[in-house]
Amino acid sequence: MTLLAFETSCDETSAAVVRDGRVLSSAISSQIKLHAEYGGVVPELAAREHLRNLIPVVQTALCEAGVQPGQLDAVAATQGPGLPMALLVGFKAAQAVAFALRKPFVGINHHEAHLYSPWISQQSAPLAPPGGERVVGDRVRGGNVGGFFVADFTAFQPNISLIASGGHTMLVLVETELKHRVLGSTVDDAAGECFDKTGKLMGLPYPAGPEIDRLAEQGNPKAYDFPRPLLNDPGDDFSFSGLKTSVRYFLRDHPGILDDAQRVRDLCASIQAAIVEVLVKKTIRAAKRNHVCCVTASGGVTSNSALRRELARACEREGFELRLAGKSLCKDNAAMVGILVERKLLHHVPVTELDSEIKPGWVLT
Ligand code: KG4
Ligand code: ZN
Repeated sequence: MTLLAFETSCDETSAAVVRDGRVLSSAISSQIKLHAEYGGVVPELAAREHLRNLIPVVQTALCEAGVQPGQLDAVAATQGPGLPMALLVGFKAAQAVAFALRKPFVGINHHEAHLYSPWISQQSAPLAPPGGERVVGDRVRGGNVGGFFVADFTAFQPNISLIASGGHTMLVLVETELKHRVLGSTVDDAAGECFDKTGKLMGLPYPAGPEIDRLAEQGNPKAYDFPRPLLNDPGDDFSFSGLKTSVRYFLRDHPGILDDAQRVRDLCASIQAAIVEVLVKKTIRAAKRNHVCCVTASGGVTSNSALRRELARACEREGFELRLAGKSLCKDNAAMVGILVERKLLHHVPVTELDSEIKPGWVLT
């Protein structure tokens, strides 16, 4: 089965071609630079950029995969949750392609796609026509750099899945393939939002998560003690706005700290340690309570080096298998959309009507 998938829920315009569990191509045009000027994603600008970039991105995906539109068996897109106008661009374009080709169309929940991205891994030997990095104009970047991504669901086992991104933080029990139950989510800020907002307080550019990660590598995580919100709460919910507020007060009370490069690194490491400790301990606790043997993690924050390291340590200590989404699949991408929809079609999940609408507030349950 060959699918073309679209993802435009936030600030990445992405299209991918998936065939029989293999990601033949994954093209992404990121808008990070555009939104950095404004210190966060501007929904109206995001939608306009999607409109501008979608066709070159789709062309890149088809071209890299060596697939003609007539060879497609199905079309997939993110239906929600996300920014309404951004979702609309990719979702309606995908429906139009499905209509024109008279092929089945499936709209999916963005978070459900994240749940299965850790089962896609990179194979070093190319299994399909070599993709390599391809830049079209100055914006579109092909994704199959240095190898091909293949989904392996034969290895699937029940797991606790952590999704940590700029908009969401949640723990999900994935009982069998395509059957899951959300155990908890953030009651206020998401983990990525906490990285971004505390970074902004320190004067770091948006998005601050990767920069805090980089600076923290040379900082002392024990230099400053920040709260670990809801760490000792028996539930699976998260809360990060209190941590952000405590960093705000800390900076107010230590005004000179931002002039000292080493103290800034220590501050980054200390904030990161608080976020990571909460994410790791709550994930492990949920895995133990639900008697699963496997932990998975995905979403932009899963790129964080300390989170990857600490999850690996904790899973090793507790005897859990750990599957982390590959770094290029942590951020939003259409490859995970295509892989999920292919699984759904193989499991005979009903297709989505061509006149169905986006679901910007679609909550995964
Ligand atoms: O999943 P994503 O690309 O987009 C959505 O929010 O859906 O996640 C973006 C978030 C941002 O908050 C960004 O700061 C954070 O992921 N992030 C990181 C790192 N890379 C991205 N946070 C901490 N460390 C990183 N290395
Ligand atoms: Zn996402």
